[in-house]
Amino acid sequence: MVLDDYFKGNKKGFDTRVLATDISDRVMNAAKQGLYPYERMNKLDPKWIQRYFTKTGDDEYQVKPAIRNEVIFKKFNLMEPIKFKRKFHVIFCRNVMIYFDGQTRAALTNRYYDYLVPGGYLFIGMSESLVNSQTKLEYIKPSIYMRPR
Ligand SMILES: C[S@@+](CC[C@H](N)C(=O)[O-])C[C@H]1O[C@@H](n2cnc3c(N)ncnc32)[C@H](O)[C@@H]1O
Repeated sequence: MVLDDYFKGNKKGFDTRVLATDISDRVMNAAKQGLYPYERMNKLDPKWIQRYFTKTGDDEYQVKPAIRNEVIFKKFNLMEPIKFKRKFHVIFCRNVMIYFDGQTRAALTNRYYDYLVPGGYLFIGMSESLVNSQTKLEYIKPSIYMRPR
């Protein structure tokens, strides 16, 4: 939605797709449906709700196909080596590394570094942080790191 709003429908020449991963089938299936109760959406600009969602129930909205079709869903275990074809401009890994021990977190952060383009960003959860001495990523501000250019 942010990308669509930014490009105003003129995305020609840009790959604006999002790769969405999780280890759980249940979580992946829920994400694919793109269904949200209204209470999860009340911070969204009403214009966006109108533009990007269809009302599907008393208190339920679904993300329109034009946006859902921009998302590629893939089951993936973050413990495994990353083997995607292309590097990423932005990686969001929020509230996931909290489950991993320090060594696993450092190894995963290194893999993220390798899979970011120079100047690409890693966003982590608001309550998370990386250990500076264990990563080549540059701290930008709380929760945001960048692969140096
Ligand atoms: C607390 S939720 C966070 C979800 C979302 N990122 C957010 O911030 O709302 C943690 C998610 O990590 C997933 N997860 C846990 N271990 C994982 C692993 N090894 N590989 C991939 N996903 C994992 C869980 O299935 C769950 O959906």
